[in-house]
Amino acid sequence: MLSKTIQEALNKQVKIEAQSSQVYLAMASWAEIQPGIDNITAFFYRHSDEERMHMLKLIHFINERGGFAVIPQLEAPTLTFPSIKHAFKELLEHEMMVSESINNLVDIALQEKDYASYNFLQWYVAEQIEEEALARTLNDKLELIGDDKGGMYLFDKDILTVSVGGGE
Ligand code: FEO
Repeated sequence: MLSKTIQEALNKQVKIEAQSSQVYLAMASWAEIQPGIDNITAFFYRHSDEERMHMLKLIHFINERGGFAVIPQLEAPTLTFPSIKHAFKELLEHEMMVSESINNLVDIALQEKDYASYNFLQWYVAEQIEEEALARTLNDKLELIGDDKGGMYLFDKDILTVSVGGGE
């Protein structure tokens, strides 16, 4: 059985994962109407799906442990971006916020001596290491590319090979 404190904290994370899915879905929709970046578009859509999976995993965990997962109201995401670089910068900042939130959650699980939740959350800890590293790599590449159109063409090709993570 989940304590009230851990249940509230897990539900807060449900909202963060749902919000992440929404944020990347907005990036995908924006990218889809930009010319020549089909794979970047697919990357954002895929990332949005992964975040929904992160959210569902939490929902099932809360409900299976005798709690109640609350489906949250979301905030409006950023809809348009001055450039592809800006979108990826926002993605990195968003992932850093998610990592901080996961770390806090792990802290709460320990304080509550809820070792089942602590154990469950390790998957998210590992996932955040991967996601942050990927976001940083993509930002570094975009920094190198600058305004070079050929570079952006290659970046779009390259991103096809990238795994967003989030698998079971
Ligand atoms: Fe579910 Fe990208 O954090």
